[in-house]
Amino acid sequence: MMKNDIERVLVSEEELKAKVQELGAQITRDYQGKNLLMVSVLKGSVIFMADLMRAVDLPCTIDFMCVSSYGSGTRTSGVVKIIKDLDIDLHGKDLLIVEDILDSGKTLHYITKMLSDRGTASIRIATLLDKPERRVAPLTPDYSGFVIPDKFVVGYGLDYDERYRNLPYIGVLKPEVYENK
Ligand code: IMP
Ligand code: MG
Repeated sequence: MMKNDIERVLVSEEELKAKVQELGAQITRDYQGKNLLMVSVLKGSVIFMADLMRAVDLPCTIDFMCVSSYGSGTRTSGVVKIIKDLDIDLHGKDLLIVEDILDSGKTLHYITKMLSDRGTASIRIATLLDKPERRVAPLTPDYSGFVIPDKFVVGYGLDYDERYRNLPYIGVLKPEVYENK
């Protein structure tokens, strides 16, 4: 069973639900009269995105991009590869980049730089989780769900080696799961 690989639950389903509503209300207030485009960075943010967009009570558009900075390890490589770019024209759009977790910040630093060259009106970052201890790139999220310690976590979209994304909560993965590989 998946839950046997989890050391402890860090953020429960109830806590996730409440936080997403809170962030959605905040975004709804901040983006009145704007041209909101929510951009989900695949695949980790897909569940957060699906919940967050339904908590935003405004007309908005969505798009997806897929980048890769990880192998099957637990640390970012620093090399960001665009696997799928955005389809929508970004001119005049108020972009809200929706991420699962801000770790070293290298991935988002690269993405925001690249997208800001395309005529966007504004770019902000919404991240569900933030590990500020691990930050290398100069990046602060505009909306952040939970600040968490430097532990490798999975669930609610986040994976280890493409697994555990379907856990309904955020859990700390037992180190032996990745250490014994
Ligand atoms: P960064 O470029 O180091 O900020 O990497 C961010 C990306 O690394 C996230 O979008 C995740 O895909 C992945 N990541 C970082 N920490 C974790 C973790 O604890 N669990 C699962 N994925 C993580
Ligand atoms: Mg990710």
